[in-house]
Amino acid sequence: MAEFITFPSLAYTDRAGLDAYLELGGYRSLRKALFDMQPEQITQVVKDSGLRGRGGAGFPTGLKWTFLPKQTEKPVYLVCNADEGEPGTFKDRDILRYAPHQLIEGMVIAARAIGSKVSYVYIRGEFTEPWRAMEKAIAEAHESGFLGKNILGSGFDHELYLHPGGGAYICGEETALLNSLEGRRGEPRTKPPFPAVEGLYGCPTIVNNVETLAAVVPIVEHGAQWYVDLGTEKSPGTKLFSICGHVQKPGVYEVKMGTPFMEFFEQDCGGVLNGKALKAVIPGGSSVPMLTAEECKTLCLDYESCVEHGTMLGSGAIIVLDETVNIPHAVHNLSKFYSHESCGQCTPCREGTRWYEVVLERVLAGQGSMEDLDLLQSLGNQINFRTICALGPAAVAPVESSLAKFRSEYEALIREA
Ligand SMILES: Cc1cc2nc3c(=O)[nH]c(=O)nc-3n(C[C@H](O)[C@H](O)[C@H](O)COP(=O)(O)O)c2cc1C
Repeated sequence: MAEFITFPSLAYTDRAGLDAYLELGGYRSLRKALFDMQPEQITQVVKDSGLRGRGGAGFPTGLKWTFLPKQTEKPVYLVCNADEGEPGTFKDRDILRYAPHQLIEGMVIAARAIGSKVSYVYIRGEFTEPWRAMEKAIAEAHESGFLGKNILGSGFDHELYLHPGGGAYICGEETALLNSLEGRRGEPRTKPPFPAVEGLYGCPTIVNNVETLAAVVPIVEHGAQWYVDLGTEKSPGTKLFSICGHVQKPGVYEVKMGTPFMEFFEQDCGGVLNGKALKAVIPGGSSVPMLTAEECKTLCLDYESCVEHGTMLGSGAIIVLDETVNIPHAVHNLSKFYSHESCGQCTPCREGTRWYEVVLERVLAGQGSMEDLDLLQSLGNQINFRTICALGPAAVAPVESSLAKFRSEYEALIREA
């Protein structure tokens, strides 16, 4: 059964305050990081734990921290990506509203590791409840000496600021986020330079996801090996999964990496809603290829198993589609989202996502042809590897995978018309 191992506060939805967090052993790791560890040791334990970024790309966290210049005159910034706009993803929201102190603690520890005096949490604009919970927690942390000047008498200073998101999915892309934070239009920057070298205000910056930073707390407390042992060899630890759609018990679950998908789905989530048959699953947020029910039988919830099944773990957002779903309709819904959210900077993404929407509309309206399916198939080649950021390729994944696996549903729409 799923239980909250590394995010104990998530077991309680009514106790986000400091007292409850302290009862659960909160801020012990911060003391350890401030008094018993050197910054390099913190980075090393995170590296050894094998923690990978939980924002979607799965990049090794400790390794990212080492990309900062060793010597710099400039300030170093830490930015927490709490924009969470990917369809199906709602795990960071629970950390923000139910475990805000764990995020703050993780951020101060990370800040000490990378030598940052100032950090920002860029929170999705629509997240009003999480914003209030974070505001309250920051005030409590300040009052109790966990934030601000000379934290717990250690001599380490750190200030943490909240910033409301710009109301666009693209602002979750880390460099668009930095532009937005600077007051500019949220458009991705070309890389290199990567943020670790030239990020916020041109200064070295580490951008990490909410779940990534919060996971640093138990890793520092229990050690790297403890975390490694929770998961598989290449995907250590646990991961938060948000599951929605046609599922009996939707919600946010913490799952040990490597858990068989069907075991989790049936035992913890109660299986398909109303006992219907499973048709497809999008395992990592809407930006990853979908899987058929048959493929799900051998899927495990870890990075490698997802890749072996031709998909990705992404942000860990599982969207369940039952037998009643018309796949072209569902894919059109996603295509509309990507077309609307493309920032328009790169022609292949701006035009390609719009073409997906237009052609799919035609097919759904009964005016499509078999050539339209070839056109849909070919669009991916015009988008992939030709854009500054991954939004364009994200739009390709549902279309290409559904055409490969559920082509007959598209053909039926054309034939019946
Ligand atoms: C279009 C787009 C939207 C994204 N949205 C988010 C988001 O809401 N939250 C997030 O943490 N990462 C998001 N990412 C990934 C970030 O660019 C970045 O990889 C991540 O914040 C790094 O943190 P991590 O290493 O801890 O995962 C998005 C990427 C793209 C291309």
